[in-house]
Amino acid sequence: MASQRKFVVGGNWKMNGDKASIDGIIAFLNAGPLDENAEVIVAPATPYLDYVRSKVNANVAVAAQNCYKVGKGAFTGEISPSMIKDVGATWVILGHSERRHVFGESDELIGEKVKFALSEGLNVIACIGEKLEEREAGKTNEVVFRQTKAIADNVSDWKRVVLAYEPVWAIGTGKTATPDQAQEVHDSLRKWVSENVSSEVAQNVRIQYGGSVNAANCKELGAKPDVDGFLVGGASLKPDFVTIVNARKA
Ligand code: PGA
Repeated sequence: MASQRKFVVGGNWKMNGDKASIDGIIAFLNAGPLDENAEVIVAPATPYLDYVRSKVNANVAVAAQNCYKVGKGAFTGEISPSMIKDVGATWVILGHSERRHVFGESDELIGEKVKFALSEGLNVIACIGEKLEEREAGKTNEVVFRQTKAIADNVSDWKRVVLAYEPVWAIGTGKTATPDQAQEVHDSLRKWVSENVSSEVAQNVRIQYGGSVNAANCKELGAKPDVDGFLVGGASLKPDFVTIVNARKA
């Protein structure tokens, strides 16, 4: 089953980088070599979307880290899907845990954003994940199913959606989910999609794992049958990202 889904690795640069350091990242991305069987996406901070698109090789797609739910207007500080597309980026990350928990984005708002981004033709990496206290209270499935439902209710074209399971306690902490912990949630998510969307979508939708993925742990995580790629934060700023993209390569 896993073999039919193309491995997909995203680099979420978050609020990091300047032109000089981005030149360094682009240099290692362009030098690769990147596994031809993997889809690679990088998400620079908004001011650099155009710059990165103009410099990185065509085999690397560019993503925004967020966007708003309408096309234009009096929404100071926001960006729209059409702006993202206008500078040649083709993806957007929505519902990242930092958007949810630092900026207070609700399931409902994230659903609206997913709906609009898809209607405007973007591809979406839609993020979900439980907090430590939720995991410890045995609520992991309840939380990720609720978040996934708010996304799924707004998806018009599953071919343009990648789900990213990112346990909040593993993001930026150096505390990775074990491969078995990741597999367990990915498997539950796929079953949820099968029961609530369709078995066909469940078989085809790619589920990335995110949270302290690095060059040392990526192979074991990537070998799990329901882990279809990664969303990488800290390590995506380093040449280790190439190793992570190539995690499935023999
Ligand atoms: P991390 O971030 O790899 O630095 O833990 C992952 C993410 O937030 O997407």
